[in-house]
Amino acid sequence: MRRFVERAIGKITRLNDEQMRSLLYDLAEENGRMEAALDSMLDGIVVCDRSHLPIIYNKAAERMLRLSGPDPSERPLWQSVEDEDLADFLRSTLENEDSVIDREFGIESKGMTRLVAASVTTLVSNGKIQGALLHLEDITEKRRKEAQLRRAESLASLTTLAAGVAHEIKNPLGAISIHMQLIKKAFQGKCEMESSVIERHLGVVDEEIDRLNKIVVDFLFAVRPMDLEPIESEPGEIVREIAEFMRPEAESAGVMVEVSIEEGLPLVFIDKRYMKQAILNLVKNALAAMPGGGKLALSVSRVEEEIRISVEDSGTGIPEEQLPKIFEPYFTTKENGTGLGLTIVFKIIKEHRGEISVQSRPGQGSTFTISLPVPQKERRLLAWGEAEARKAEV
Ligand SMILES: Nc1ncnc2c1ncn2[C@@H]1O[C@H](COP(=O)(O)OP(=O)(O)OP(=O)(O)O)[C@@H](O)[C@H]1O
Ligand SMILES: [Mg+2]
Repeated sequence: MRRFVERAIGKITRLNDEQMRSLLYDLAEENGRMEAALDSMLDGIVVCDRSHLPIIYNKAAERMLRLSGPDPSERPLWQSVEDEDLADFLRSTLENEDSVIDREFGIESKGMTRLVAASVTTLVSNGKIQGALLHLEDITEKRRKEAQLRRAESLASLTTLAAGVAHEIKNPLGAISIHMQLIKKAFQGKCEMESSVIERHLGVVDEEIDRLNKIVVDFLFAVRPMDLEPIESEPGEIVREIAEFMRPEAESAGVMVEVSIEEGLPLVFIDKRYMKQAILNLVKNALAAMPGGGKLALSVSRVEEEIRISVEDSGTGIPEEQLPKIFEPYFTTKENGTGLGLTIVFKIIKEHRGEISVQSRPGQGSTFTISLPVPQKERRLLAWGEAEARKAEV
């Protein structure tokens, strides 16, 4: 096209009206095609001229930069960008004619933080700098998948090494416990020390053995393959049962419990025993995050081909730097926590072929969301139901 235009320009003085109209028409059509191609891209593209005015930008860029105010093409790009960090970055990079590759920004969009990688390169034509090209990529999903993969990998390597160790610890623990009972019996009334004193000491040892045992049992649970027996179940029922079970404990801690379950949800394949344990772990964490009371909201809904179960609290929230670690084995900020609660939750959800995600704001609370796939049969039934409904409308 470019060569064609160049040739046409070369003989422009010899073109008649009809030929000129045809040339302009071809150019407009070509331009339209370019714009459509740019707007169909998932990545954002902005071309700025030498005065940093955005002369070309596509829809994805408009969305990611959240361009605001009057016509953005009449002001330097950064003046129309809402996010302060990104605006500062654009101003210094464009003004200094720097090239930057993949600088990451967290940008608020519809109440969620999206991760965007921005690259700026200078636009050179005929050996001269003509402006700058900004490329934006939404890397939220990519980063989430990488984090999940890392978690799965760290879990897998830990499994092999430590399952053996844990097993070895469990046996002597059992033996110590039995011998403790025997010592207790043997001491009764046959010692100069007061038996209540001995019992107090032995009691402490007993408690510590229980604690160690819980750590080992939880650990083995976290790393062993699960004997999942999923059956078609109502996800709402499990959540309702947990809410009723935990309500007294929550209310006595000043936490209001709210349950919202969408009508007509499809059945999903769930091993109730395990799924209850997973949701219960999330609820316990939520309650622990609200020592001064608050609100716990449990909800079940359908979003496209997924069932979403969410556990939302109004508690302390999780600092951003801790978020990537909370599913890792042994990460805990609690004095008496094992740090295996969320590792177990993650494993249970993975075994159900689901996903778990978390959104949290320090000081405002956290929301853990479990997504479970709706089984194929349900999808087919739904598609059939929709087709029938359409037929009935005609
Ligand atoms: N709802 C929440 N609000 C705030 N922080 C949370 C929440 N859920 C988890 N966390 C953080 O994640 C950490 C890890 O949670 P996890 O359930 O794995 O272990 P834990 O609760 O510390 O110990 P355990 O579950 O064994 O008692 C917690 O120590 C806490 O810092
Ligand atoms: Mg926990």
